[in-house]
Amino acid sequence: QTFKIAAIPGDGIGVDITQAAIRVLDTLAHVNGTFSFEYTNFDWSSKAYLERGWYMPPDWEEQLKKHDAIYFGAVGWPSVPDHISLWQMILPIRQRCNQYVNVRPTRILKGTHPPLAQLQGKPSDLDWVIVRENSEGEYAGQGGTTHGHEANAVATELAIFTRVGIERIMRFAFETAKLRPRKKLTMVTKSNAQRHGMVLWDTVFYEVAKEYDGVVEYDKMLVDAMTVRMVNKPESMDTIVATNLHADILSDLAAALAGSIGIAPSSNLDPTRSCPSMFEPIHGSAPDIAGKGIANPVGAFWSAAEMVRWLGKGQLDEVADKFMVAIENVTGQPETRTKDMGGSANTEQVTEAVCKEIEKV
Ligand code: NAI
Ligand code: MG
Repeated sequence: QTFKIAAIPGDGIGVDITQAAIRVLDTLAHVNGTFSFEYTNFDWSSKAYLERGWYMPPDWEEQLKKHDAIYFGAVGWPSVPDHISLWQMILPIRQRCNQYVNVRPTRILKGTHPPLAQLQGKPSDLDWVIVRENSEGEYAGQGGTTHGHEANAVATELAIFTRVGIERIMRFAFETAKLRPRKKLTMVTKSNAQRHGMVLWDTVFYEVAKEYDGVVEYDKMLVDAMTVRMVNKPESMDTIVATNLHADILSDLAAALAGSIGIAPSSNLDPTRSCPSMFEPIHGSAPDIAGKGIANPVGAFWSAAEMVRWLGKGQLDEVADKFMVAIENVTGQPETRTKDMGGSANTEQVTEAVCKEIEKV
């Protein structure tokens, strides 16, 4: 079986880690022998935009939809305003490809020295899956500006919440929680201050929750209090569902608590499988370390493992699990950790080590 992958390396370290992920994926396929990958490389980046004036061509949607999955590096560069790069690439892809769920697992990988462990608790306390609403909410893109950015400027940023959108993300979150060891779901809003959309979130949450009574334990948090609970009581949570903006912020916090933003993966899923889903590490293009060959590729590898799991529809779970073991065998060794994990290895050395481990496990 050959999986067609649309590879979009993008900018900065996105290029390094995509290259590394492809190499590791090919090793995995080669060792396994029952499947392979065929890539189409899309040169859609800020660098290309600066040269030709566009990120994606008019038929981008048609081109992407010819693939089984999309592997994405990162987009964004200092010479292009971030709202342009985000709205020319990643947000339209998520919206037009029906990727209404963004799944962000976080746990403490072997060999990482997270700030949390220095505070209290044991590494296994932090084991979460953040389910982010990925199609509407605060990133719906509606709003406007009048009077330009002059003295009397007025700008609106409209958050959009639909019952359909809320209900489908709640169902996905409950189904995720049901399969997890702790079988717990925490729903996050800010429904005390934001009294319309957030209250609808609460309402739909409790409606859907009725179907899971006795199966999933559930509770509700306000987003500000949630940040405190994540630091102080990590063991009290498992699956977390939140809006586009809230989950975006909470998942960066989760990654930092688990050790580094360079480790964390994300899957943009179309659960109906009518469009290709997209897999990417949660970090950005990291201009401060770009071009140095020192980016941590672990988040990219973990995202690749999630892609294999998704593509396999249950048939490749064992392959993905072994892939994760190989990654942790590498993070477990001090000499194959990058700087953000307290080591001094470069991207190439970590990649090489993971390939060798894949051949072993
Ligand atoms: P960032 O994630 O690129 O970097 C934040 C910090 O973490 C930097 O100090 C960076 O060196 C470090 N870091 C990130 N990934 C790392 C890795 N794999 N290994 C080692 N260190 C790593 O976030 P920042 O600086 O806010 O954004 C830079 C650009 O990336 C901006 O243009 C932003 O819009 C874009 N961005 C794009 C995203 C995407 O494509 N999905 C997500 C987040 C940011
Ligand atoms: Mg983010």
